[in-house]
Amino acid sequence: MNILLIGSGGREHALAWKLAQSPSCDTLYAAHGNPGTAHHATLVAMDGSDHAAVRSFCDRFNIGLVVIGPEAPLVAGLADALGDIPVFGPSKAAAQLEGSKGFTKGICGAANIPTAAYEHYTTKAEALAGLADFSAPYVIKADGLAAGKGVIIAETIDEARAAIEDMFGGGFGDAGASVVIEEFLTGEEVSFFALSDGKTVVPFGSAQDHKRAFEGDTGPNTGGMGAYSPATILTPAMQARVMAEIIEPTVEMMTHKNMPYRGVLFAGLMLTDDGPKLIEYNCRFGDPEAQVLMMRYRGDLAALMLSVAQGQLDAVPKPQFSPETALTVVMAARGYPEKPETGGAINLPKSIPESKDDSQDVRIFQSGTGVWEGQMIADGGRVLAVTARGNSATEARDYAYAAIDSIDFASGFCRRDIGWREVAREAQAGTS
Ligand code: AMP
Ligand code: GLY
Repeated sequence: MNILLIGSGGREHALAWKLAQSPSCDTLYAAHGNPGTAHHATLVAMDGSDHAAVRSFCDRFNIGLVVIGPEAPLVAGLADALGDIPVFGPSKAAAQLEGSKGFTKGICGAANIPTAAYEHYTTKAEALAGLADFSAPYVIKADGLAAGKGVIIAETIDEARAAIEDMFGGGFGDAGASVVIEEFLTGEEVSFFALSDGKTVVPFGSAQDHKRAFEGDTGPNTGGMGAYSPATILTPAMQARVMAEIIEPTVEMMTHKNMPYRGVLFAGLMLTDDGPKLIEYNCRFGDPEAQVLMMRYRGDLAALMLSVAQGQLDAVPKPQFSPETALTVVMAARGYPEKPETGGAINLPKSIPESKDDSQDVRIFQSGTGVWEGQMIADGGRVLAVTARGNSATEARDYAYAAIDSIDFASGFCRRDIGWREVAREAQAGTS
């Protein structure tokens, strides 16, 4: 089977590495990929937003599976445009779980899924008046896709008013055409992944990430500066609750509403004193969460994704993961997230080659990289995801930082405290 992977980040580098290992994968193409992905796939200069081009590429190159990495093409309906070609990734209707916070809240209400109490407003006047029904800290969200920047936690009512003014004033583009205000939840956040074909749904691992740019979880929000998997705070008992109370009712409700969900469902959860609550859904793998999940996944990814695409997830073995911990540290270009300095030279150590198999416990996944006159350079905000596997988060972290110290990337920076929660838990339990 020939496979087409859409996307060009570190997530797609990790997916390409695993897909290329699958016995059922003949030729893997990536559109448009990056220099890291190029080790495992034939790069295609094609834009995922050009649905007709993707469709005709699939016909010409006999593509048997399309894997869509990022949210934007899913929300724009690329899966629908591909007709009967098997696609790993939800339809436009089902991708509303990420594309519209108001839609997701509606599903939660209809299926009785625990989430923060909320109101959805379509005018500025209503939203401003609605603030009276909430108390500080106020959680204000632009309804649509805002590249991780659509959530404002306002400590005061004046800040909350300003956020609403900004959203309805176009500060968040179309994403802010309507707004959700919700109850502030307290607890520890965790990410949970499940695969669904619309009928069958299976767990696909957990992770915790670090969204803030700087150490101590300070500084501006980013796409993610690091992550690790599994998140042990999500105990087997808690995972069973998440499946029964949140994931399964969501999948059932989507099928009931004639929008069967096919792909990976990435739930952002808050573990509150009242149990797990849904913060948000994403309709794709996280970046850099995919990097740690792929370091632990043991199996034929292409066959698994095809079974999801074809509604036959019940016919393949349940996904299996290494019991080890994987941890990834993002090296970003100086100035990220506001104004990343691109063009800086990067030299990767020869001691960490890009092997095609799963034999290495340390791998460097490339996100925003490019090549200029034979020299690897930074070509984006988040540039590398340096990823390691170990018997504990502490061990994986030590391997990842040792690798980072061997990378020559003078204009890059990283956080030095990735995994601190898990490392602290291990120190307390004596399991590091
Ligand atoms: P989201 O884009 O919905 O994941 O929100 C971004 C971040 O805002 C989340 O990862 C949380 O840290 C925080 N957040 C979102 N909603 C809430 C909430 N209701 N209560 C507390 N924190 C929240
Ligand atoms: N790392 C968070 C995300 O991909 O949404």
